[in-house]
Amino acid sequence: MSLAIDPERLLSEIDTLALFSDAEPPAVTRVVFTPTDLKARAWVKTRCKEAGLTVREDAAGNTFARWNGSKPDAPVIGTGSHIDAIPNAGKYDGVVGVLGGLEAIRALQQSGFRPKHSIELLIFTSEEPTRFGIGCLGSRLLSGTLSPDSARRLKDNDDRTLDEVRRRAGFAGELEEVKLPAGYYEAFVELHIEQGPLLERQQIPVGIVTKIAAPASLRVVIEGSGGHAGGVLMPDRRDALCAAAELILAIESAARTSGAIDTVATVGICDVFPGAVNSIPARVRLSVDIRDTDLQRRDLVMRAVEDSCHSISAKRQVSIRSELLNADAPADCAPEIVEALSQACRKHKLNFFPIVSRAYHDSLFIARIAPVAMLFIPCRNGYSHRPDGYASPDDIVRGTLVLAETLAALSQ
Ligand code: GLV
Ligand code: MN
Ligand code: MN
Repeated sequence: MSLAIDPERLLSEIDTLALFSDAEPPAVTRVVFTPTDLKARAWVKTRCKEAGLTVREDAAGNTFARWNGSKPDAPVIGTGSHIDAIPNAGKYDGVVGVLGGLEAIRALQQSGFRPKHSIELLIFTSEEPTRFGIGCLGSRLLSGTLSPDSARRLKDNDDRTLDEVRRRAGFAGELEEVKLPAGYYEAFVELHIEQGPLLERQQIPVGIVTKIAAPASLRVVIEGSGGHAGGVLMPDRRDALCAAAELILAIESAARTSGAIDTVATVGICDVFPGAVNSIPARVRLSVDIRDTDLQRRDLVMRAVEDSCHSISAKRQVSIRSELLNADAPADCAPEIVEALSQACRKHKLNFFPIVSRAYHDSLFIARIAPVAMLFIPCRNGYSHRPDGYASPDDIVRGTLVLAETLAALSQ
């Protein structure tokens, strides 16, 4: 079997998909179930159908594009990623795994290869937490990590429920039907940009992921007392933003002093109410994102954050409520898929090394129901979640080639 990735087709598809965006190029914003996301989905589905794949969608909008194997009832070999993009993102996050996955399948088809197990490309719904506050919505439902009842309680910032939004987007089935049956997958492999600097720094074209870090997210609401910025004297203030500032620094310090480089914590949202120049902040809403490859260490940081909430609340006479949105466990990649990826790299004389995923991915949740592994390609300066994120054509093509070889080996 001689595999040929078509660089022009793949790269021009990545560029075209980036045009489905609610931000000015080069930024990409594509939030789940917006008209832009729906147009992008339709465009990808058309590409899949052109490749002769059979497309189906579930009630959460997860999209499956299947190349039937000679044993169509055997467990499936899955690949894929996401096409939703956070506000002001770049064009490679998730997209390389979706369009690279499609190109890998086309390359296999064109080589004359015929799989025994069906190979299925999966475009997950809402890997990004932008709209509903929780990431990996599609894969959580597919793996049963999120119950349909909990999913139905999710609301976006406009107070619209997930059910309302998905039905309006055309996904009208029951969420109960989304969970995949036991044994659905033989293996699942996700191609992704690294979103960190290690591969580029060491000039290694492929990272084979051995472990995916565990994320936890909190929503924190701080309520103090508002009032006139001139009239209320400093001893009488209960400024919610000052309390938030202290809490943000306490969160940073808890992560910095965990003793491990793998501990990270981020406050990415700080909404101030009423948000006027001459008004004391009465209420602040923060998002907190804490991650680690080690569950116990991550949970220690979470407890430190809770302790800081109590002490800052008492000291500043403000109320601090924190709501846990998710606290997931890390996942280990399956040794047999790691080995298949390693073999594919060796076959094409590509250097590779084992790497930890500090970002989360849908594979983290698919790992609850199937053997999973991921491969990373370098991205410039490790940038991602910003418009200047970049992966080179050579790296994208190499990653796609390794993916194609691995799918072939696994589907035999
Ligand atoms: C996914 O985009 C993440 O935040 O890790
Ligand atoms: Mn992302
Ligand atoms: Mn991603």
